Amino acid sequence: MEKIVSLCKRRGFIYPGSEIYGGLSGTWDYGPLGVELKNNIKQLWWTMFVKKRRDMYGMDAAILMNPRAWEASGHVSGFADPLGDKMFNTMFKTSIGAGEEAIISYLRPETAGGMFVNFKNLVDSVHPKLPFGIAQIGKAFRNEIAPRDFIFRVRELEQMEIEYFVRPEEWEGSFEKWREHVHAFMDSVGISRQMVHELEVSAAERAHYSKRTIDFEFDFPFGRKELCGLAYRTDFDLRAHTQASGAKLEVQDDEGTLPLMPHVIEPSFGLDRTILALLVSAYTEDELGGAARTYLKFNKSVAPVKAGVFPLLKNRPELVAKAEEVYDMLVQQVDTTIVWDDNGNIGKRYRRQDEIGTPVCITIDFQTLEDDTATVRDRDTGEQERVAVGGLTDILR
Ligand code: GAP
Repeated sequence: MEKIVSLCKRRGFIYPGSEIYGGLSGTWDYGPLGVELKNNIKQLWWTMFVKKRRDMYGMDAAILMNPRAWEASGHVSGFADPLGDKMFNTMFKTSIGAGEEAIISYLRPETAGGMFVNFKNLVDSVHPKLPFGIAQIGKAFRNEIAPRDFIFRVRELEQMEIEYFVRPEEWEGSFEKWREHVHAFMDSVGISRQMVHELEVSAAERAHYSKRTIDFEFDFPFGRKELCGLAYRTDFDLRAHTQASGAKLEVQDDEGTLPLMPHVIEPSFGLDRTILALLVSAYTEDELGGAARTYLKFNKSVAPVKAGVFPLLKNRPELVAKAEEVYDMLVQQVDTTIVWDDNGNIGKRYRRQDEIGTPVCITIDFQTLEDDTATVRDRDTGEQERVAVGGLTDILR
């Protein structure tokens, strides 16, 4: 963990929150590479679960909600951890508005709430047929008693959650499908299946709203711990919000007969924990060309930088000009993150890109000026091949 935390800070993935003021426990800030990594994961998740499915609808709800929603959902009375002989509610309280008008509410402890309270809006505006789901990515806040293990347990986190609405009698089949989808997503970002283990959560350990939960645990360096979860929330939330708000949270059955209150399957992914699992999966130490190296073996799909472009020597204007031309062409033609580097010798540049997980490096050398080919180096093997400059766009695509 120390090596990963240090690499993350040194190379601009993740910094301690408010560091120049001595930090703030349970907060971390994502730097230039961290934000790219995060965005790539969010995009893959959104594409897999929203864009490529006809039964899913995305949304982005407010973090601040009417406090009655958190009373109805059971969070005000039940979202607590043991602390001494009293339970400690881990929702962050905040005051909204000024003076006598002010009300007390909470920073949302899960993104789920915003999806349940918008159930009626969604049904009335897009008329979905069961089964269907709502998906959301966003921040959630928990006043954890003991934040720890880098970005594993934090007080400000990001979740990627789905509330999938099904007919009550179909919950088991849907739960099984989502179990597979959770694994499929982990596979797609490059989290090793061998390091992910399912844990059937006992009734005593389950959240107050759940009748069945599977935790997907990951072999973190500090032990096997929860990475993400899958819960059967029954109609707990829709029923509770119906009772508290008076709104009818129902959907017309396929046949247009009786209105029905669906049950909910909820896959919930923590983005920060996904990033940590990816860093742990990708961190590799090996030997290349007789020298030790450290590199991040990221899947190409999540790698924060997809390619580096270098002039072999920075004091040769003809090489720099050609490399700039190639760089400009690639940046224009390929919608991805490509970096320019002319600092230090070529070996050092390769190592720097290896360390941040860049899959390919493209070097412009003297031969490029003669035959318009460039060297393309593979991160994992260190092998190089000559490729026509005109073919680079296709390689990156
Ligand atoms: N809506 C369901 C829900 O929030 P949860 O198991 O409490 O369920 C879901 O949280 C996921 O959110 C966890 O599996 C984890 O990935 C992430 N998560 C929860 N608390 C976290 C924390 N303090 N720091 C980082 N990630 C956290």
